[in-house]
Amino acid sequence: MKTVSSLSDLRAARLSLDGTVGLVPTMGYLHEGHLSLVRQAKAENQHAVVSIFVNPTQFGANEDLSKYPRDLERDLSLLEPLGVDLVWTPTAETMYPPGCQTWVEVEALTKGLEGAMRPGHFRGVTTVVAKLFNATQPHKAYFGQKDAQQAAVIRRMAADLNFPLEVVVCPTRREADGLAMSSRNKYLSEAERKAATVLFRALSAAKELYEAGERDAETLRRKMKEALSREPLARMQYVSCADYDSLEELDVIKGKTLLSMAVFLGKTRLIDNFVLE
Ligand code: PAF
Repeated sequence: MKTVSSLSDLRAARLSLDGTVGLVPTMGYLHEGHLSLVRQAKAENQHAVVSIFVNPTQFGANEDLSKYPRDLERDLSLLEPLGVDLVWTPTAETMYPPGCQTWVEVEALTKGLEGAMRPGHFRGVTTVVAKLFNATQPHKAYFGQKDAQQAAVIRRMAADLNFPLEVVVCPTRREADGLAMSSRNKYLSEAERKAATVLFRALSAAKELYEAGERDAETLRRKMKEALSREPLARMQYVSCADYDSLEELDVIKGKTLLSMAVFLGKTRLIDNFVLE
């Protein structure tokens, strides 16, 4: 496994990879969710490339970039046994050269849900992902379904900008009690960690209604809100029942649908979602 930081080293290392390349973009502090993306990238391509970059432009003014967990040595030790060919750890100066003023922005899809709560977040994500795509020239790029809106926005960006690659969205990895794996789970106190299963419980309750035949979107949103309100440590930010592709809130469920939510447990903000097929 080769680890490079500069753009010139990345380009040289990329040129030496013959055959198909799968890219897994990450911000490091890897957990099983990331590793499952890497395994899939490795299984579906001749080479797997992982980028590790804590992207400053996707953090809001009230989100502490300096507190984002980092442990490069541990990350590398987790990637090595998976047969990763190349790890790229660019610096902020490489990704954002002095004086840079070019952004990639997906419009309507970024207005609601996470985009409404975190202004500027998706502009940072799409800008950095476009740069990662340009530099690493992958055939496929892997993202987790847990960040459902991010996946939808990146799919749209890749199509709109004619990136010659496939965006692959992989299932959410969960702890045994249903909590979606996330680097943020480490911020939860013991009590908050127990309470955090409420997201899974609320989504499951709404899904159960759907499976019993309910198609009124507001009834599903109400069900999720009720389940969340029963957990004293949880503070709901939003719940949504939206069209899977457009992310527009629904009145009546017809096609593929995204149930999603953002919830605070203490100071930690968690998101989760289910897809109704
Ligand atoms: O999902 C993430 O970890 C980040 O948003 C990504 C896609 C690596 C871009 O910085």
